[in-house]
Amino acid sequence: MEILDSRGNPTIRVYIELSDGTNTYASVPSGASTGEFEAVELRDGDKKRYGGKGVLKAVANVNDIIAPELMGMHAHEQAIIDKKMIDLDGTENKSKLGANAILGVSMAVARAESIFANIPLYEYLGGAGARRIPVPCMNILNGGEHADNSVDFQEFMAIPLGAPSFKEGLRYVAETFHVLKGLLKERGLSTGVGDEGGFAPNLASNEEAIEIIIEAIEKAGYKPGKDISIGIDSAATSFYTGENTYDLKWSKGGKMTSEDIIKLSEEWVAKYPIVLWEDPLAENDWAGFKEFTKRLGDKIEVVGDDIFVTNTKYILRGIKEGTANSSLIKLNQIGTVSETIEAVRMCRDAGWRHFHSHRSGETTDTFLADFAMAMDGGHLKSGSASRSERLTKYNRLMEIEQELGDRALYYWK
Ligand code: PGA
Ligand code: ZN
Repeated sequence: MEILDSRGNPTIRVYIELSDGTNTYASVPSGASTGEFEAVELRDGDKKRYGGKGVLKAVANVNDIIAPELMGMHAHEQAIIDKKMIDLDGTENKSKLGANAILGVSMAVARAESIFANIPLYEYLGGAGARRIPVPCMNILNGGEHADNSVDFQEFMAIPLGAPSFKEGLRYVAETFHVLKGLLKERGLSTGVGDEGGFAPNLASNEEAIEIIIEAIEKAGYKPGKDISIGIDSAATSFYTGENTYDLKWSKGGKMTSEDIIKLSEEWVAKYPIVLWEDPLAENDWAGFKEFTKRLGDKIEVVGDDIFVTNTKYILRGIKEGTANSSLIKLNQIGTVSETIEAVRMCRDAGWRHFHSHRSGETTDTFLADFAMAMDGGHLKSGSASRSERLTKYNRLMEIEQELGDRALYYWK
């Protein structure tokens, strides 16, 4: 069925029932700053409904094309089911049936099998060794395409890498979030939130965002760089205007080249406790990315999101060329659970990290929390300490940590 995501746009929920009566469902998220080569999210294009964003065609594809084909198959055959849907679609980018339709089914199948087998989803997907709770990279300040403010960089994350457990880590950064609100208020800045629940104030520069976050960390009683470090997702594709030009709207920025951005990043990494930087350059700027990684890759995690789109074809190129040292992982960028697992495996084999992620348009589905846990990536981002579609994932991880008791692990790297 068609449901609404956290931005009020239509998305897909898929219901599934196994022959023994087990039934469940899964809901699909949706991005805003999407990579050019992501699998296609099928939308109706009928301007009379939701401005063209309806997903009734994708729903019909699940009901009329996919479901009849899967009838009689075994839910534990995840890879076979996923392959069947890929073949049914027949296109390179899932544009015929829609990656939203296919992923909804893929996730529902995995969840149904875990319920049937009576084991938690993270254990079904990750095995008995899945006991490392990912560090929550909390996006407490939003900019770019996720907010209507003056900040170009999309996400500023507080990363509680020095906490003793997930539960404590979450507390560190949630407290920082509340202190940050107070600081913004004191300065007469907006405390309204962006799409991922972080504050979206109009600041004078991107650098001011980092400085105020550091201030909030300290005021909350934590040590920047020891208890809590900083991650950035520039989502640079969104301010790349072509011909080696990045057009930043903040006062001290203006037009910058790849080299300008890399120089600025080097300064920031030397000056601030930054441990992770995602999409510092645009999706087509492979050379810039490589240079960035050459100069900063031994100091921080360099994550490719729009450039790799969770696709093994691009991740493999990145590994060969030294483009980054980590890939963002989003299920709906590639469209099936088994292809996402393949992308993770490729990262792991290359000694890369893999950073698990929600989308800016989310639902309350918690699949991501179990998935990140199962893949043993060690960190995930699910937005801020506001908006329940963000917190359901963090809360699910608290539940898992409690369930695991002293078998649970929590560490950075
Ligand atoms: P998106 O943002 O879901 O809008 O693509 C998330 C990200 O860029 O990491
Ligand atoms: Zn990103």
